[in-house]
Amino acid sequence: MTDAPVVRLEKDGDIALIIVNYPPVNALGPGVSDGIIECLNRANGDPGVKAMVLMGDGRSFIAGADIRGFGTGRKRPPIGSRTYDVLDASPKPVVAAIHGYALGGGLENAMACHYRIAVPSAKVGLPEVQIGILPGGGGTQRLPRLAGVQVALDMITSGRHVPAPEALTFGILDEVLPQGADLRSSAVAYARKIAAVRPLPRVRDKSATADPGVFEAMRKSIARKARNQLAPYHCIAAVEASVTLPFDEGIAKEAALFAELENSDEAKALRYAFFAEREVAKIPDLPVGVEPHDFHIPAVIGAGTMGGGIAMAFADFGYDVKIMDATRDALDRGMEKIRNNYATSVKRGSLKQEEMEKRLARIHPVGGYEDLRDCDLVVEAVFERMDVKKPVFEKLDEVLGPQAFLYSNSSALDLDELAGVTKRPERVAGTHFFSPANVMKLLEVVRPPRASFETVATAMALGRKIGKVSAIAGNTDGFVANRSRAPFNSEMVILLEEGCLPEQVDKVMVDFGYPMGPFAVGDLAGLDISAEGRKRRAAANPNYRKLPIADTLVEMGRLGQKTGAGWYRYEKGDRTPHPDPEVAAIIKRIAAEMGVPQKTFTDQEILRRLLFSSVNEACKILEEGKAYRTSDVDVMWLHGFGFPRYRGGLFFWADGIGVREVYNQIAAWHQQYGDRWAPSKLLRDLAESGTSFREAKPAPFV
Ligand code: 3HC
Repeated sequence: MTDAPVVRLEKDGDIALIIVNYPPVNALGPGVSDGIIECLNRANGDPGVKAMVLMGDGRSFIAGADIRGFGTGRKRPPIGSRTYDVLDASPKPVVAAIHGYALGGGLENAMACHYRIAVPSAKVGLPEVQIGILPGGGGTQRLPRLAGVQVALDMITSGRHVPAPEALTFGILDEVLPQGADLRSSAVAYARKIAAVRPLPRVRDKSATADPGVFEAMRKSIARKARNQLAPYHCIAAVEASVTLPFDEGIAKEAALFAELENSDEAKALRYAFFAEREVAKIPDLPVGVEPHDFHIPAVIGAGTMGGGIAMAFADFGYDVKIMDATRDALDRGMEKIRNNYATSVKRGSLKQEEMEKRLARIHPVGGYEDLRDCDLVVEAVFERMDVKKPVFEKLDEVLGPQAFLYSNSSALDLDELAGVTKRPERVAGTHFFSPANVMKLLEVVRPPRASFETVATAMALGRKIGKVSAIAGNTDGFVANRSRAPFNSEMVILLEEGCLPEQVDKVMVDFGYPMGPFAVGDLAGLDISAEGRKRRAAANPNYRKLPIADTLVEMGRLGQKTGAGWYRYEKGDRTPHPDPEVAAIIKRIAAEMGVPQKTFTDQEILRRLLFSSVNEACKILEEGKAYRTSDVDVMWLHGFGFPRYRGGLFFWADGIGVREVYNQIAAWHQQYGDRWAPSKLLRDLAESGTSFREAKPAPFV
């Protein structure tokens, strides 16, 4: 850290520049807002200054309030003496000159300026809803006045980052500079041009109007996504105040609604998720100086569902990628599937035809290993069996240059064993994508013991480059995400043996916040996939807990949506799951054959049976040193399994219940059900010492 002030005043002739310098993203950290006010007062008091420019040093304008300050009781200036108010009251014009990001309090300050200009690559937005709050610096009152109520509602309830050219069309910006123009000198010239304009254009002096029906319509349109949450609805209420109340009263209303949200459970969980997602990118024991390698010619082996999705993920982010399969026929079918997937997006309106063609043109089917010679990074996604994967790795090792990285998309196999068939085990690791690979955000980077840090860091960076959240896992059966989820998957079927129905379990989980219930998800993925894994584990472990109900459905050919029946039945051409009396009868019959006593369940019991089983397993993973942090597990659950973000993640949620209570319940189920509920040692230690999951110290990573 240097002693440079966080905000400084510079002069360029008769224009003063107020420059924020609070790396890395110019959040409104301690001293920043005061610094802006102080510089503004100095510039206003300087007779040689005709107008001012507000801008940021480094990579951004201002990324918003300092999120670390929320919920800490940090004192904030009262309404009337905040930067927004001081900018509003400035007798001389202020031009916000935006590059990088103007988010949250950043955009709110910009909107309190008299003019806003930006470079074309800049983005603006009010993303507060994503951390469970609402724009509390006048954003809910100024944005509707500047861009109209509908745009404000859309931006504030989604939190999306709006590119500068689009923001210009909304009226948020007054000018977008030509590509390559210098922001500072352009802003100074702009300020000089408008210096004499009076009266000063102030957003607060405009009015916002809307048909009252738009607010109700907005509430309805977000209902599904926003269930169990307060912030999106408070956002709408605050924007509504911009129409129904004079500006100052609207600001007071905004502040009151903000105060209700700041310490809400959802805000705490979402703040936690924000920082957990940044933490997960860090490899704690990465030796200084180790950098990820760039890659230029990636390839994917296997053109099935996963391989195709992975190739699409590369192409979607601008990479040319080769794709190969064992036969021409399989490759053609894979390419056809990719084309169809893109075509569906075009039909739905989420992708332009022209963009689809561009992406397709980046995926290059190749006929054989010889065509991969120049590749420097390969992701293997062939059938999930060691005897299928090993020859692929042998062959890749033979044809690829010695510097090439070999990654496997395996979801469970021993990657050290796989690495062992190559002469470069240090360049072999796992990149486990989640289905559909071009959509799901999680990339689990698996680190087998011989993989070098370069190999792991390169895989982590690969994920970032193709829009994923990368998280490191140790080489253990199922790695971290699927292994921690596995007991949940068993428990949900065991619940059926005891008297639950799939639709009952699904309802509890959807009410909790999952987009779909676990049985409906099973039908979507195909029940044969998990049946394969069960077979493999049962063969390896004589004590493996079999799931006769699930196995029976698969034996009957009820494989899920693709066969029109699984846990549910489906009408032709429709994906809506319908509860099926035939399934209920199968469950009843098998439960009777097994002699399992039947009972009724409360929603809480169902929820805890599923999630506590996973908490316990995740603790075992941590105590074995197969994950770095409890928060990494949470990030995996958020981005791999659709765990509701406003509940923070598996461990964050469990902390809300309390380690002691979780442990007591697991210990009780251990008594009742036997070994599968044996509490992890780490969990017991935490309970005994009164340590939260968040504070848990996992064993050193192995
Ligand atoms: N407060 C505190 N720290 C922040 C921050 C913020 N608003 N924004 C980013 N950071 C930190 C990150 O934690 C990270 O720290 P680390 O290096 O120690 O892990 C560092 O800055 C860099 O951030 P990213 O890794 O996320 O950098 P990217 O370049 O990938 O992304 C970004 C930049 C798009 C600005 C992203 O950081 C972001 O979305 N930030 C949050 C923006 C936001 O939500 N602003 C609204 C805040 S709430 C508000 O303004 C309330 C107001 O209405 C009163």
